[in-house]
Amino acid sequence: MIIAVDGPAASGKGTIARALARTYGLPHLDTGKLYRAVGLAVRLGGGNPADAAIAEHHARHLDPALLDEPDLMSADNAESASIVSAHPGVRAALLERQRAFAGQPGGAVLDGRDIGTVIAPFADAKLFVTASPAERARRRHVELRGSGDHRDFAHVLADIEARDDRDSHRSIAPLVRAEDAALLDTSELGIDAAVQRAIALVAAATGRTG
Ligand code: C5P
Repeated sequence: MIIAVDGPAASGKGTIARALARTYGLPHLDTGKLYRAVGLAVRLGGGNPADAAIAEHHARHLDPALLDEPDLMSADNAESASIVSAHPGVRAALLERQRAFAGQPGGAVLDGRDIGTVIAPFADAKLFVTASPAERARRRHVELRGSGDHRDFAHVLADIEARDDRDSHRSIAPLVRAEDAALLDTSELGIDAAVQRAIALVAAATGRTG
């Protein structure tokens, strides 16, 4: 069984995808980490994320050790990830790795921006998880503070809106709800309620509760 979870930054999709993986006993891939690793490789090499050739080179020779770097999840690196992810060569370089993960025996849960539309359009269940920009910025603000990043709320909201805009308007694999994806708005839901709702939506699509 393949479960595709897409949505914008800080929508709750990662938490939901991990919970679905536990519930259904499936492996989970956070595909955003792949784009973040490419963005980080470019930055560590002193390159510009807007340079398509350099970004593609790093995507084709991705160092798995970068996935464990503390800077992977930083706000600055999210920006780099969003820039490199708009290059078609980067997306092509990461495509097979994600498809292979989705296609493993027994299935998998993948979360990202284009899982239900490009990576696994044949997924058994598709969720599009979202929340208002203000609520997503509030969550990301709390998370960043916990990691010692004290930028103010207005800055976090502006970053989220810029990333939404870039991810939604790029020409390749934009962030968009697949026609057959169930919509899950977590703006007014706590983590437990959002996870319960996600399980109910997957159960409705697949007939399986766990
Ligand atoms: O999910 P996360 O916020 O970690 O993703 C970082 C960036 O990677 C996103 O803003 C997006 O530009 C890119 N991304 C993507 N396609 C995916 C996952 C992430 O373009 N499947």
